[in-house]
Amino acid sequence: METVVSGIRPTGMLHIGNYFGAVRNFIQLQESYPCYFFIADFHSLTTHPTPANLHSSVKRVLAEYLAVGLNPEKATLYLQSDVPEVAELYLYFNMNAYLGELERVSSFKEKARSQPDNINAGLLTYPVLMAADILLHKGTRVPVGKDQEQHLEMARTFGNRFNRLYQAEVFPEPQAFSETAELVKVPGLTGAGKMSKSAGEADCIYLAEPADSLHKKIMRAKTDSGPAEPGSKPSEAVQNLFDLMKLVCSADVCTFYHVAYQEGTIRYGDMKKQLAEDMELFIAPWREKISAILANDNLLAKTASLGAEKARASAAATLAEVRHLIGFRKFY
Ligand code: TYM
Repeated sequence: METVVSGIRPTGMLHIGNYFGAVRNFIQLQESYPCYFFIADFHSLTTHPTPANLHSSVKRVLAEYLAVGLNPEKATLYLQSDVPEVAELYLYFNMNAYLGELERVSSFKEKARSQPDNINAGLLTYPVLMAADILLHKGTRVPVGKDQEQHLEMARTFGNRFNRLYQAEVFPEPQAFSETAELVKVPGLTGAGKMSKSAGEADCIYLAEPADSLHKKIMRAKTDSGPAEPGSKPSEAVQNLFDLMKLVCSADVCTFYHVAYQEGTIRYGDMKKQLAEDMELFIAPWREKISAILANDNLLAKTASLGAEKARASAAATLAEVRHLIGFRKFY
């Protein structure tokens, strides 16, 4: 049986990279499979958020999950920290996770470079906690963006290693999943790489982005001085704008600007204006919904408590099996 598991770190507002990379698939998958979607608040501790920031970010993600269409009656929506069993499974996996393999993970190497004064053990064992998140519910499909591919490989490694060590078939092999043929990488507005908060506010388009800042951010997005010659390849910054257009503009509009680029008649200002308009149409319905849900403490509380109850039931069943395999026996 397929079981779907995925999560998002609460670091403030969700952006359209999170939406197209992951959440869009959550919404589809909740219709057909048992799904566990959580807010990875344990994971977010690697960056040492203040208690107030942590709480408001968690609340936002929960509200945004609901606003874009996740249904707590269909999928299990919960906070990672409401399910302490995940910390226990993380502990067991850590006993068979080795320094060499953890140090080789690209996301760790990147963080060690970008925050040299905070290379904590939580960062090093980040993929171990992810494996515990997924395998806690015996997850087989994990809807994620392209940047999580290597973490999924580690989850398979830790699950298989546990199975071998205890000669049991407890854990399945989870696979990264996307509705599209390839895992998605949504580019940012600052010209290089994936859309990401660590690239700064100007890089991201948030699901709740106000109309005026949305327009400003897109109009300021990086471009270049135009096609070098007819038929030349766009620069990374311009290709990123084409990729963003593909997400929210009609096929006709995309073709129009591609042809204009090829013919050397493109005006980047017009192209950005079009992108800003179509992006506004796309996200506008969410803006109000998000603020309404953020003000509805009762709905948020009901969602989180229902999710915690369902997630803990599933986690407890897995942990009972795991503890027995390891050799823990009760004396009382
Ligand atoms: P996080 O919080 O960085 O991102 C959440 C999800 O959004 C996707 N994503 C993107 N996809 C495409 N283009 C982008 N620019 C982009 N930016 C973000 C991510 O791939 C991810 O799917 N480690 C995870 C959270 C996590 C998790 C898990 C995920 C913790 N435990 C277990 C799956 C299963 C993370 O930091 O994602």
